[in-house]
Amino acid sequence: MYTAAIIIQRLVWVSGLVQITTGLLFWTGNVLALIPLHMLNGLVLALLLWSLVRLAARAGVHPGYVSLAVVWGIVVPVFGLTQSGMLVGPWHWVIQVAHLLVGMGAMGQAEGLARRIKGRPQLRPAAVA
Ligand code: HEM
Repeated sequence: MYTAAIIIQRLVWVSGLVQITTGLLFWTGNVLALIPLHMLNGLVLALLLWSLVRLAARAGVHPGYVSLAVVWGIVVPVFGLTQSGMLVGPWHWVIQVAHLLVGMGAMGQAEGLARRIKGRPQLRPAAVA
């Protein structure tokens, strides 16, 4: 479980960096053909977060953190899929910033869960060995 948490934590970073990079390129009107890839990778990120949720629940991480991450994993794809129709017009940038922050929030949730899983005394490598 410890190793799985490390692997998923790293995959979240890779996926998240791809999201931020492609997203910022979209923002400046570039590589719009990659939007479907961005959406697919966003779903992967949400699934990675849910994988950590499962590990965290099994590791006994506080249910508050686990529940928040469950909800966040739903909000990320739902917001991502619906954002283009929100506040259309000069204020659409507010939605774009919110979308970026929600996405980065997912990365933060994943990071927090992974650290808490790895911090469980019974899962530290010395205790496992
Ligand atoms: C399932 C999840 C996601 C979906 C479906 C999704 C979908 C989209 C779509 C369709 C766009 C283009 C919007 C437009 O041009 O009008 C976009 C842009 C963008 N995305 Fe995502 N996204 C997801 C996750 C993420 C995540 C996790 C991040 C960051 C960690 C992110 C960061 C961005 C940024 C910075 C932009 C450019 C600004 C904007 O248009 O909002 N996205 N996303």
